[in-house]
Amino acid sequence: MNANNGDYIHGTDPAEQSRLSLLNELMNDKSLRAMALGGGEKILDVGCGLGQFALSMARSVAPDGRVVGIDRDNTQLSEARRGARKVLEAIDIEYRQGDALDLTIRQDEWGTFDIVHSRFLLEHLPAPQAAVDAMVRAARPGGRIILEDDDHDVLRLWPEPEGVYNVWRAYIESYKKLGNDPYVGRRLVSLLHAAGAEPTRNSWNFFGSCAGNETFRGFVENFAGVVKGARDTILASATLESSAFDSAMKAFDDWGRRPDAALWYCTFWAEGRRPL
Ligand SMILES: C[S@@+](CC[C@H](N)C(=O)[O-])C[C@H]1O[C@@H](n2cnc3c(N)ncnc32)[C@H](O)[C@@H]1O
Repeated sequence: MNANNGDYIHGTDPAEQSRLSLLNELMNDKSLRAMALGGGEKILDVGCGLGQFALSMARSVAPDGRVVGIDRDNTQLSEARRGARKVLEAIDIEYRQGDALDLTIRQDEWGTFDIVHSRFLLEHLPAPQAAVDAMVRAARPGGRIILEDDDHDVLRLWPEPEGVYNVWRAYIESYKKLGNDPYVGRRLVSLLHAAGAEPTRNSWNFFGSCAGNETFRGFVENFAGVVKGARDTILASATLESSAFDSAMKAFDDWGRRPDAALWYCTFWAEGRRPL
């Protein structure tokens, strides 16, 4: 775990940044389609990470729209700014350091964003309601608040690789030990409602594949990266022997080469509107 990251389970080392980047490749088109941007929107992306999805949104709302991406971690933000510098077309994007639990946007920005978005952020927060409260306040009256997050018990692998569900359960337990909610996905609509937004949509995005599909390797690498990257945290917080962890991950690597392997997962999606 990166000391700069507090209790962010994934950290920010180069292997993890590659994994997050791969996840963005697997997900961004689906996330973007689900948002159905009209162009010209002003968007706040909280917990923007490496900024790739913020960049996709900025491209979609250009030339009149604007995206502000906020993340707590400067290592992520440096990468995000590096990525934005490579973009040739005219986009309006700004990355800022800030904490979702103490959202500091400028005084004149509160209540002005057409869309306030977060993806894979709330699962890492001990107080997701406080973050959603601030996100709703950042939206303009009538503006959209879009939450995408994990609910970890939807994972299915078949044929079942031996021991992998034990490791997955230990991974879920380590979230609880960090004080975070591994099942926050199912709470998204109620978090919006409790923050004073009017919920308008509840959905999920399929995040899975099978052997033989061109995307499958990416999903296998993402899953292995998530779990192996959290090895120390998992072993420190769960009653799982390191040998059981390692043999399960070996079984998973072998499973990833099977011609009949299939993986199901999905990200939870909810949307609300700030009342007029
Ligand atoms: C899994 S990444 C997701 C990044 C991006 N939203 C995406 O979908 O690619 C989670 C990000 O949340 C950030 N984060 C964690 N806790 C935070 C907090 N309290 N305030 C702001 N950002 C935070 C981490 O630094 C990390 O970059």
